Amino acid sequence: MSHSIPETIIDTHGQRTHTCGELRSAEIGAIVVLKGWVDTTRNLGGLLFIDLRDRFGLSQLVFEPRETPETYTIAETLKSEFVISVRGHVIKRRGEINRSLPTGEIEIVVDDIIVLNTSEPLPFTVSAHEKKQQNAGEDLRLKYRYLDLRRPALQGNIVLRHKLYQSTRRYFDGKDFIEVETPVLMKSTPEGARDYLVPSRVHAGQFYALPQSPQTYKQLLMISGLDRYFQIVKCFRDEDLRADRQPEFTQIDVEMSFPSEETIYELTEGLMASIWKDLKGVELSLPFPRITYKEALERYGADKPDRRFKMELVDLSKTFSGSGFPPFDNTLNTGGKVLGILVKGEGDRGRGAMDRLDKKIVRGKIGAGGLFYFQRPHDGSEAKSSIKSEVLGRSYATDACDAMGAEAGDLVLVLCGQQPKIYGQMGMLRIHMAKDLGLIPEGNTGPWEFLWVTEFPLVEWDEDADRFSAMHHPFTAPLAEDVEVMFNDPGKTRARAYDLVLNGTELGGGSIRIHQQHIQRQMFSLLGIDKEEADRRFGFLLNAFRFGTPPHGGIALGLDRIVMLLTGAKSLREVIAFPKTQSAQEPMVQSPDIVDEHQLEELHIQIRPSKDETSDS
Ligand code: AMO
Repeated sequence: MSHSIPETIIDTHGQRTHTCGELRSAEIGAIVVLKGWVDTTRNLGGLLFIDLRDRFGLSQLVFEPRETPETYTIAETLKSEFVISVRGHVIKRRGEINRSLPTGEIEIVVDDIIVLNTSEPLPFTVSAHEKKQQNAGEDLRLKYRYLDLRRPALQGNIVLRHKLYQSTRRYFDGKDFIEVETPVLMKSTPEGARDYLVPSRVHAGQFYALPQSPQTYKQLLMISGLDRYFQIVKCFRDEDLRADRQPEFTQIDVEMSFPSEETIYELTEGLMASIWKDLKGVELSLPFPRITYKEALERYGADKPDRRFKMELVDLSKTFSGSGFPPFDNTLNTGGKVLGILVKGEGDRGRGAMDRLDKKIVRGKIGAGGLFYFQRPHDGSEAKSSIKSEVLGRSYATDACDAMGAEAGDLVLVLCGQQPKIYGQMGMLRIHMAKDLGLIPEGNTGPWEFLWVTEFPLVEWDEDADRFSAMHHPFTAPLAEDVEVMFNDPGKTRARAYDLVLNGTELGGGSIRIHQQHIQRQMFSLLGIDKEEADRRFGFLLNAFRFGTPPHGGIALGLDRIVMLLTGAKSLREVIAFPKTQSAQEPMVQSPDIVDEHQLEELHIQIRPSKDETSDS
């Protein structure tokens, strides 16, 4: 017998016969060997129970002092997270059957135990029992990510992610798409974020850029005639991080030759349908609805509308035209808008709550000029206004409530300002109110409101840079009927670009590409990139366009975001094995980190003091 502690070097039990999630009543009577981590220990009137945990589940072990005293003595010394091997026989559970556990009908009476490894007390508890889970701070959990990953909930996310890879690969393989790897050390692609740069040792003063996406390579693969490409690929963007943004993230990247927008929609919808079916057993209803960018902005104040609740924006400009109320008059006289949303059942919200909404949310978080509101009280009395009747006639409250379809007990929120900013601000207020009123379901059970947003503008005016920038990226084709507009009024040109949105999150984006050199050159010049710069940065692509480039287009889907929505996780950090923090660090390995002086020398790099240090001295 191998009962000694500390841990035994030779595991005389040999291979495990089952995992901890596998045994059922069919195995009653069998002699089994299990291995795993000690999750929970309970000593009940002489009998010792241990829940043994591995990735596959929990099994209840029983140690009997009279039958196997030596084994029992060892079991008494076990602590949480010790790694053990046990041999025993399966019996019908003598206590109450645990219906919440797949192995809940049986228990294993242990004859022999080997301690394979001990464990120091963990910095936080990782038990499979929810009640024992602690709310450890995220920094601590990320520092010990390998322990955090022992938690079944987190493991479940990682397993689902694995299934997503498999489902995706099966789908594309079945449609004659081939997976091609593209370089990670490449040249900058303009996807709108900062690049992560890698200095070259061999070429002093030169840098590779990590791909923000494999955009140019996938287009080149179409010129190569590969016809249908996909790749599950890491992308890198140095941008401000949020719950749904990581500096390195994964795309399901797709490109095909001779597509129309319809081809890409159908292909992507098919992918979503097979993922939802494979991973959740849910049949999505196809095709997904579509709205144009303009409509999305006007109805929802966002290019990624959440349509799980209504509260649509209504243009009240006509209602308030010539009202004499200076903020409305000034806005409308300078081409702005007065917009409203209807909040059901909040007609009796008190002054204090409305003032807080105005100050903290509307002016504070959203940055709008101020909130106006109208209320129809529950008792059916006359509509009330937040604006004094001396400055806005009383009848406007009734008009606004009528225009919005407000009934007794409803609230109308109104903002005014210049376009397009005012739409975005109202969109934010819409989301805030929905969250505040609990209209947005949490978790991973749907509803799944997929939506295509189409006809994005080709370019948008960048005030800081004082020039146009590409709304999607510079390789996106204009709508055929807008090619003329592209030169006369660039800001009005619509692109052959589309986004896939799910429940208010942008899951993916793509476009039909420019495939002719002269149009690509025109696009660069529109973006203020002169011929010389275009040739230096994108000469490889412009050149390639000379040699029979097929019309092509594609899409990229954020794989991490798909997993986040499928699992109901609140942040991408819960669906990536080793994620970065909000400040782009990895606390476990402590990256980024300084490097040796000689490494810098080899790379021809000298570190300059940061601006703060210079100003301090
Ligand atoms: P785009 O820039 O829209 O398109 O990116 C495609 C999708 O990638 C996801 N995504 C991110 N996910 C997590 N963290 C990030 N920082 C992050 N940035 C983007 C989003 C997004 O919809 N080359 C084009 C695609 C094409 O035109 O085919 C591209 O990269 O879900």
